Amino acid sequence: MQRTKVDVILGIQWGDEGKGKIVDVLAPKYDIVARFQGGPNAGHTIKFDGKTHVLHTIPSGIFHEGKVNVIGNGVLIDACIIREEIEGLRQAGVEPRERMKISDKAHLILPTHRLLDAALEQKKGSKKIGSTVKGIGPAYTDKVARCGLRMGDISVPAFAEKYAALKEEHLRQLRNLDFDLDAARIDGKTLAEYEQDWMAGIAELRHFEVLPTEIYLNRALDQGKTVLAEGAQGSLLDVDFGSYPFVTSSSTVTAGVCVGLGIPPSSIGKVYGVFKAYCTRVGSGPFPTELHDATGEELRRKGHEFGATTGRPRRTGWLDLPSLKYTLMVNGITDLVVMKADVMDEFDTLKVAVSYRLDGKEMEYYPNTEQAEKVEACYVEMPGWRSPMSQARQYGDLPENFRKYLDFVSRETGGKISVVSVGPDREETIFKD
Ligand code: IMP
Repeated sequence: MQRTKVDVILGIQWGDEGKGKIVDVLAPKYDIVARFQGGPNAGHTIKFDGKTHVLHTIPSGIFHEGKVNVIGNGVLIDACIIREEIEGLRQAGVEPRERMKISDKAHLILPTHRLLDAALEQKKGSKKIGSTVKGIGPAYTDKVARCGLRMGDISVPAFAEKYAALKEEHLRQLRNLDFDLDAARIDGKTLAEYEQDWMAGIAELRHFEVLPTEIYLNRALDQGKTVLAEGAQGSLLDVDFGSYPFVTSSSTVTAGVCVGLGIPPSSIGKVYGVFKAYCTRVGSGPFPTELHDATGEELRRKGHEFGATTGRPRRTGWLDLPSLKYTLMVNGITDLVVMKADVMDEFDTLKVAVSYRLDGKEMEYYPNTEQAEKVEACYVEMPGWRSPMSQARQYGDLPENFRKYLDFVSRETGGKISVVSVGPDREETIFKD
């Protein structure tokens, strides 16, 4: 039996590219779907049978019977949020206990991590990152500082003691930050109320299979099983390659699959890079092609560009090819997946950034954060396609000007377009070859 490789799906902009839909569409081809980084800062929206489902921690393959979903060691779990997701799935007729395995090495987001996130953002004032305030930064900080709590801890007798010690340390840090603990609310709840729900979540998680998922996954590959690794956020929010410090705290790039699931680099197969035909960003940080005009507003309105996790309006702008080339490079993208071009169906013309200019000079490389704040994007203008694409089911059905637009993106980036999404539903997806 030949060992199989892990295929990967990543967002290659600033997140919210529509990965959840693509994982859901591709899931039937795979035996296992695995999340490898991030936590409930993600919001993966999946639409089918006229219903919308939003997942935060649970892999997007959960709706498919017979598939195993894995929460890998690189993921962060908030017991309260995952419990709500589990209950939502049960209401939709899905029992996640039968379909999901969790790494014993995945770290927990404690209620006090969420307070620390809020306190640290507050302290930053005008330099705030625009975090989702789900406790991501503080929980990954504790992981790296070697004092975090992991899923494997929830079943040991000393769990309550370990929890209390870490909470006490967090409260000490919060007092040092002059944080008003009495006034603090987490999703509208006091710390004590949130903690109660969180503990109920821990009790629920004890019913799940918690195991060294790196061993499970590598054995599955040895047995010829197929695995799809599902990324969260996007490459431009990567802790190393994103516009630091306006990034998330995990490795959102292909290399993150290796450390977040325990997969050797030689076992990476296809890498699907998901991008929107325009750009969006939530939170602070540079955005060279950002639009502050009626076109930007139209993209936001037609594209429903409001955060699935926080409800915040997303910043919008034209497609940015220099940044796309960069993320293709760091990820080794083999297949491009284009999303939401239908949002621009009625545009007479549209623009695509092909380079940046800084101090009157063309830039040959991707800018660092300081430069990115100052660069001027240089555009080419293209004619719109002015016809709806949602009925198209084959590549040849797509409007001609849209196909020209895709050819241009492909030529400029050197990437191969493999999948085109023409609407939010599962059915509205075209595989090029
Ligand atoms: P954090 O990961 O919640 O701390 O947020 C850090 C930055 O990443 C902020 O700018 C967030 O808006 C952004 N971010 C985090 N998760 C997502 C996501 O799933 N989609 C889009 N942006 C995200």
